[in-house]
Amino acid sequence: MQKSINYKLEQIGIIKTPYQNNAPYQPIEADKEEFYITINHRYVDGLKDLTKFHYIYLIYYADRIIRKTEMVVYPPWAEGKKVGVFASRSPVRPNPIGLSVVRIKNIVENKIYTSGLDVFNGTPLLDIKPYIKDLDNKTDANYGWIEEMDDMEHLMLHIKGIPHDY
Ligand SMILES: C[S@@+](CC[C@H](N)C(=O)[O-])C[C@H]1O[C@@H](n2cnc3c(N)ncnc32)[C@H](O)[C@@H]1O
Repeated sequence: MQKSINYKLEQIGIIKTPYQNNAPYQPIEADKEEFYITINHRYVDGLKDLTKFHYIYLIYYADRIIRKTEMVVYPPWAEGKKVGVFASRSPVRPNPIGLSVVRIKNIVENKIYTSGLDVFNGTPLLDIKPYIKDLDNKTDANYGWIEEMDDMEHLMLHIKGIPHDY
């Protein structure tokens, strides 16, 4: 049987958002609230040249998970649908690591101001990587099981947090 190994990760910063308990399912780029990341001073030199990119990946630890990890999850926006946790973006997973793509608005000293985020205020940041055109954009990407949902277009509005009245 495969051994279970534990790894130690270090928090490199903290994410500031207006969301205390309720956050969007995914980042809303047009979110008008203030979002920024404060990077620990010892890692600030690692931000050199980051401002040359428009978008970054933020990798963080969803530190406030209270639900037990299950191998199947029920995405809250897809009523009745049950999918494997690894076929989902649920934060309730064996390693509660989240991934969000955001636009860089500005970088001032150890603060990165960004477009909207989908995390609770104070979420610990583990890593930042640049989102690179072509490398990170697969032209034949699809919607996976979401394509099988009757009201896919409507569901996508929920996932993307786009206001609608139906
Ligand atoms: C569906 S997850 C998606 C996260 C990320 N964009 C991804 O795809 O990996 C977003 C949800 O995680 C939850 N969440 C955000 N920050 C969290 C935290 N620090 N601890 C636990 N849950 C969190 C919120 O309910 C939010 O709506």
